[in-house]
Amino acid sequence: MTEIMTGSSEADSRYRIVVTESGPYLVYGRPPLAQQFIMANDRGESWYFQEGKHFSTEAEPTALCRCGASHRKPYCDGSHRDADWNPELEKGNDRLLDNVEVKRGERVSVSDNPKYCVFARFCDAEGGIFALTDRSDERDARQMAVREASMCPSARLTAWDNATERPYEYKYEPSLGLIEDNAIGASGGLWVRGGIRMTRENGEPFEIRNRVVVCRCGQSADKPYCDGTHASIKWRDQLEGMPEGETVPEEVY
Ligand code: FES
Repeated sequence: MTEIMTGSSEADSRYRIVVTESGPYLVYGRPPLAQQFIMANDRGESWYFQEGKHFSTEAEPTALCRCGASHRKPYCDGSHRDADWNPELEKGNDRLLDNVEVKRGERVSVSDNPKYCVFARFCDAEGGIFALTDRSDERDARQMAVREASMCPSARLTAWDNATERPYEYKYEPSLGLIEDNAIGASGGLWVRGGIRMTRENGEPFEIRNRVVVCRCGQSADKPYCDGTHASIKWRDQLEGMPEGETVPEEVY
């Protein structure tokens, strides 16, 4: 049975990703695909995303590399057959809210599932998301806590309104991002946005989420999800491109 994360909704059924057992992601439905650069504020803290170079997904399906070894990234070129990686996918259908810890503030709570940390660091600014959640009876602190959780590309951190018990989520169109993290000299995972359905080759579904990051470097221990390993091994996709497109959030303040 397909699970849908609370606060997410499923994209149109033409969009889907098949995570093959020993090779690439097969992308259907031609979602837009672009680099997404993690951009800093003037204190050097992760603050917003900015789009870079766009790549075609016209081929149906488009095979995107998940082993990290392709010479034609972001596409698969067959190198996974000889690459040094373990393609194995985690067993079962893990849900984001399984084993979650909740930090409860006065007006806002933040759920935290560290398994999904992709080391994007949006939660560090302004004293950190947990200190901000503690002060969520103050409007500025509350807004900042919600902003930081909403910027977490993997939804490891999700902010909830205590009054409605609903999560805060940016509205994303079905789209894919190649995360670039120049501050640490690494490239990150594939950011899957807007409730695109993902399944294994045998059709077994993964939980549908508004935002989730899957591995591109081939070294995550939690495949298909990114576990931040790219940051420690300083993996780079070597794609050209500059941050010059649209930003998330749209207004960077
Ligand atoms: S998955 Fe095919 S080259 Fe990486």
